[in-house]
Amino acid sequence: MRGSQNSVPLESVSWRSLRDLIPHLAAFKGRIALALVCLIGAKVAAVGLPFLLKRVVDSLNTEDIQTHLVVVPITLVVAYGLVRFANVLFGELRDTVFGRVTEGAMRRVGHQVFKHLHSLDLAYHLDRRTGGLSRDIERGVNGISFLMRFMVFNIVPTFLEIGMIIALLLWNYSAWFALIVTLSVVAYIGFSVVATEWRTNFIRQMNQAESKSSARSVDSLLNFETVKYFNNEAYEADLYDRNLKEWEQARRSNRLTLFGLNTGQSLIIALAMTSAMLLAGFRVASGAMTIGDFVLINALMIQIFVPLNFLGFVYREMKGSMANIDAMFSLLRVESSVNDELGAGDLSIEAGNVRFQNVQFSYQSERQILDDVTFTVEPKQKVAIVGSSGSGKSTIMKLLFRFYDVGEGSITIDGQDIRSVKQHSLRKAIGVVPQDTVLFNASIFDNINYGNVDASEEEVREAIRLAYLDDFINDLPDGVNTEVGERGLKLSGGEKQRVAIARAILKKPAIMIFDEATSSLDSRAEQRILTAMDSVRGDYTSIVIAHRLSTVIDSDLIVVLDRGRIVEQGTHDDLLSKAGHYASLWEIQHTRPD
Ligand SMILES: Nc1ncnc2c1ncn2[C@@H]1O[C@H](COP(=O)(O)OP(=O)(O)O)[C@@H](O)[C@H]1O
Ligand SMILES: [Mg+2]
Repeated sequence: MRGSQNSVPLESVSWRSLRDLIPHLAAFKGRIALALVCLIGAKVAAVGLPFLLKRVVDSLNTEDIQTHLVVVPITLVVAYGLVRFANVLFGELRDTVFGRVTEGAMRRVGHQVFKHLHSLDLAYHLDRRTGGLSRDIERGVNGISFLMRFMVFNIVPTFLEIGMIIALLLWNYSAWFALIVTLSVVAYIGFSVVATEWRTNFIRQMNQAESKSSARSVDSLLNFETVKYFNNEAYEADLYDRNLKEWEQARRSNRLTLFGLNTGQSLIIALAMTSAMLLAGFRVASGAMTIGDFVLINALMIQIFVPLNFLGFVYREMKGSMANIDAMFSLLRVESSVNDELGAGDLSIEAGNVRFQNVQFSYQSERQILDDVTFTVEPKQKVAIVGSSGSGKSTIMKLLFRFYDVGEGSITIDGQDIRSVKQHSLRKAIGVVPQDTVLFNASIFDNINYGNVDASEEEVREAIRLAYLDDFINDLPDGVNTEVGERGLKLSGGEKQRVAIARAILKKPAIMIFDEATSSLDSRAEQRILTAMDSVRGDYTSIVIAHRLSTVIDSDLIVVLDRGRIVEQGTHDDLLSKAGHYASLWEIQHTRPD
């Protein structure tokens, strides 16, 4: 499923997210049990407090306080202090013990989602907005922290406390008090739930507006240069502001509904407090209860509603958190359309023969991109793919790398269909110098090292030398440690391509694909790169996608592609003598050299 989480009704989502979370908590059973023990300890102490207070008040309120020993009230006051301390201590212990569980679960889930996102196919990532995606993860992980904290620190303790208080009221006083407490708690919770459900829609709108404006601002800032080229700062700011306005409006309606919720809750609390106090007052007057009892009832009522007051907020936030967690878990439910077959083995490379057999492919069903493409690359050969822009050259590279699966036909390497081997082993065998190189925001050295993170510094330097990068690097004040900037924007196109070449060389693949790898180089730099490529060429099978034909004259085979079909193939001389498509391309490029 690739649907966005926003189309799923929130109600059905909520409990699913809890269920999804449970396996991640299983590792922390012991800690969770210990935290629960502390929680119960803290609550027993908390409920004991008002009862001690009542004893204190009553023992001070007797006529014979003067004559009697003051030992009783003093003991009670000291006990009161101790119990209060125990309450806080257990609470703190619970927080400390449970904190590790929350962080552990956050880390596990975050890690799993990240791993999963990298396992999805390219098509998914091309459709997604990266800014929105990272926000989904961030919000989901924070949601876990929130949900866990409030489950353990608020929901469970509050219900435990209410249960104990109702039981004690029934035991010690008239059932009326228990009834008042029960009714008001039920009314309060019922109201909070209904009102919160009503509000979720507004909260969702707010989140959507927030995601949208954040994705928009990330996209806009990433395209900083493009914005400048077209003088579109004002346009961008306007667009951003329009998103912010949506967000502002969503916040405003959100706040109004919050006002309604809070007012309703306060009304229920006020009614419950008043009736309980009235009832207690009458009973004291009639002598059925002591002043201490009155104090106790008052303290208990306050004690119940303080956490309940939070409960509205917590329920609301929990719903939000659950939706966020579910949005994150729904990322885990997205399945890749490119998968390893069950029991697929590793690709075993003997010679490095690549064969495309009647390959049909389209990105979207309405538009065919490759049509009946058949060609063979013999081991250690250099095969060129030429053709005008948009004819499907890069697509051939992406298919061989298995970013997508072919529609019909097959691609084999040394006789093995690439769909029948593990993706990891396939990709290990193929080095790609892509058409548009995007670098990590790190040093040149790190970017090259990325080709093989286990390579020694010597090997990296060797790759630098082979890619003719050393002159350039020696000119830099920081040498190989020069930072390349976001996406490598601080390097020129040619320099970036050479970094990409060095990186691919370092990978030492059996098959190398250069996708217009020299397109942004001048003729001299290009010649040097070609020499470099040739010097290592004997080591691997190479597929060179080129626009400039001068770079492919010496290829063992040239495949000419036109609108997704192979129109000619042969060596340079063959093709020239055919006086066909290639010959005319050659003609054009030679009367008008670049
Ligand atoms: N992810 C994609 N989704 C849809 N269409 C695509 C995608 N990638 C490329 N195309 C289209 O496929 C055609 C071939 O693209 P490509 O193989 O990149 O051509 P080139 O020969 O210039 O490398 C182009 O018309 C392009 O618009
Ligand atoms: Mg291309």
